[in-house]
Amino acid sequence: WSATENITSRRRSFPPMARSFDTIEWSFDEPSGIGRVVLDRPDSLNALSATLRTEFDEAFAAFRDLDESADGVAVRAVVVSGAGRAFCVGADVDEFAEGTDLTHPEMVYEAASQFAGPVVAEIDGYCLGGGLVLALSCDFRFASERSEFGLPEVDLGIPTVGGGLGALRAAVGPSRAKRLAVTGERFDAERAAADGIVSEALPNEELSERVDSFAETIASKPPLAVRSSLDIVEAYGHEPPAQLERREDQRLRQSEDYREAVAAFREDREPEFDGR
Ligand code: COA
Repeated sequence: WSATENITSRRRSFPPMARSFDTIEWSFDEPSGIGRVVLDRPDSLNALSATLRTEFDEAFAAFRDLDESADGVAVRAVVVSGAGRAFCVGADVDEFAEGTDLTHPEMVYEAASQFAGPVVAEIDGYCLGGGLVLALSCDFRFASERSEFGLPEVDLGIPTVGGGLGALRAAVGPSRAKRLAVTGERFDAERAAADGIVSEALPNEELSERVDSFAETIASKPPLAVRSSLDIVEAYGHEPPAQLERREDQRLRQSEDYREAVAAFREDREPEFDGR
């Protein structure tokens, strides 16, 4: 048997999932534990309309439900991408004009950043404004070479919101973050990679394969250790790092996955992780 078949047989079956949305596509592959959200408003380059923001939040609530109903951790990784020629171009400017209620525009960024498991942004095309903030709200970013980045908000007379400037500052330093925010200048994927905004800029045709293999890799790791590591990195600065790491280390040494990892190493076999 392969490790994947074994995981499939061990995991409980979920009831068939009927998750249908108007502005996103949502899916979950039970054997691998990989979820996907595709922003699906290609005619407006996946602009973040009020409906899309709400549905994106519901999509992540659906992933949380899967985890809560699983014995262990069901959702090992989530990939976010965009349909058509954009990842996302930020807020829906038509709704600005219409005066649509903009309460809680951060919802979409929080859904990605607060999800306990790893979230990977697959960026192919425009990644502007709130689209860049959304990408920065994910744990990992991969981009095709044809992608274009930038913060056009300044030209609309507003600042970037959703924690985007803080995340950008952490990635590129204060000077470049300020420059990008106040000029709105666009930059390409190669520059985004050099800046550390994306981890890799890939030939267009290689992007999805690279993202899939990255998602599969992290999905195969012990999920509690993956989630704990993400939390520790996010919490840096809030609690003395060594104290936080020691607490998490002690917690995870109580887990079944830890015992399984050590046993598999000693028995020279593939481990099976359930997120318990
Ligand atoms: N909100 C709503 N609709 C948007 C949009 C947005 N942020 N960005 C693009 N669209 C729509 C366009 O209105 C156009 O619709 P139409 O075909 O009905 O006319 C469609 O998406 C395609 O855009 P278009 O401008 O024709 O494509 P392009 O390749 O020439 O330019 C951009 C693409 C992204 C450079 C340009 O659309 C742009 O600057 N958009 C605004 C981005 C922005 O300011 N975002 C921050 C918001 S805070």
